[in-house]
Amino acid sequence: MTDPAEDVVLSVENLSIDFRLRTHILHAVENVSFELKRGQTLCLVGESGSGKSVTARSLLQIVDRPGSIVGGRILLRNGGAVTDIARLDPDGQAMRAIRGRRIGLIFQEPMSSLSPVHTIGSQIIEAVRLHSDLDKRAARAKTVELLRQVEIPNPDQMADRYTFEFSGGMRQRAMIAMALAGNPDILIADEPTTALDVTTQAEILDLIKRLQVERGMAMLLITHDMGIVAEVADNVAVMRFGRIVERGPVDAIYHDAQHPYTRQLLASTVKLTRHVEGRVSAVAASAPPQQPILSVRHLGKTFGWHGKTSSLRAVDDANFDLYPGENLGIVGESGSGKTTLGRLILRTVEPTTGSVVYRNKDGSEVDVTSLTKKELRSFH
Ligand SMILES: Nc1ncnc2c1ncn2[C@@H]1O[C@H](COP(=O)(O)OP(=O)(O)OP(=O)(O)O)[C@@H](O)[C@H]1O
Ligand SMILES: [Mg+2]
Repeated sequence: MTDPAEDVVLSVENLSIDFRLRTHILHAVENVSFELKRGQTLCLVGESGSGKSVTARSLLQIVDRPGSIVGGRILLRNGGAVTDIARLDPDGQAMRAIRGRRIGLIFQEPMSSLSPVHTIGSQIIEAVRLHSDLDKRAARAKTVELLRQVEIPNPDQMADRYTFEFSGGMRQRAMIAMALAGNPDILIADEPTTALDVTTQAEILDLIKRLQVERGMAMLLITHDMGIVAEVADNVAVMRFGRIVERGPVDAIYHDAQHPYTRQLLASTVKLTRHVEGRVSAVAASAPPQQPILSVRHLGKTFGWHGKTSSLRAVDDANFDLYPGENLGIVGESGSGKTTLGRLILRTVEPTTGSVVYRNKDGSEVDVTSLTKKELRSFH
């Protein structure tokens, strides 16, 4: 067994950060303490403006002006050696050696760290070479390997593409590859998935979690999503008004939160779940069974281009019933066909396959798909 204290790679002790503004001093972070352990994830949660990002940025000495660390220590451990990051010169060599090599950073907006005028590969190669003495060839090989690890398909070709040719999710993957270029043992992820659609969010989160476990990195993950916390956290720290109001193992926080603010945070998540459960049971209990007002069967649309053999299946075999008084939510990532589905139902876009049946109050049915242009106008 190893001593658990050996697993602590970074300890923040009584950290305070002020912003000296013209009119007053803003105490953005006050007396914050936490530890990051090898192979574990600490989730930092809390409302907007509570000081999460400022805390995270201070670990790399990149707090924006006029902010500065006014108290406390940030102890980075390396075997027996300990460095207090709070004492280092932000522009000095010692701090530069820590950024990327000991501590990697991923944040919300990939465009702010990716250049639009260089290929994705050349940017990662540059990061690899900054942190190692690999020659160009070896750095390129490592870059392709990193792109493979973040699950970019055909990494060898994709390395030569530009940022604008990457989708939002792929940009985030490229940024993760860049953060890993120096093999850091600590990873900071500040709201890494908030700019992405739900499906991509889940994929990127899985990827980050998997890489963290595989590489045994200590991770500080900032989020305001308690669902994400439940999935990835080992420990949780809750911030409010610049202070940590509660921290502990994830189970303890979920089952026995002490601070009213933590309970409030959890309650807002639980309410959403209850709302859905309540509605499902209400629907199940409602008798007598009603006829759907709208029945969609095998609805599909294929867009073809003149003179080209390729075509795009925008909607493929959509089937659902909509009941009177029901609220049906259609969700899906960008380009998945939501808008086209709506237009097919109204026939402002002509379906390639399937039928749409509308039921009048008297039970009579209108086959929307076989209406003439004129009938369709009055039906609308
Ligand atoms: N460059 C700056 N100049 C002045 N005040 C700042 C600056 N950056 C942050 N602050 C202030 O510091 C406090 C903490 O901000 P921070 O960005 O850490 O919040 P956060 O918890 O990350 O919020 P969010 O969830 O919205 O990202 C806020 O009151 C903010 O207004
Ligand atoms: Mg923030």
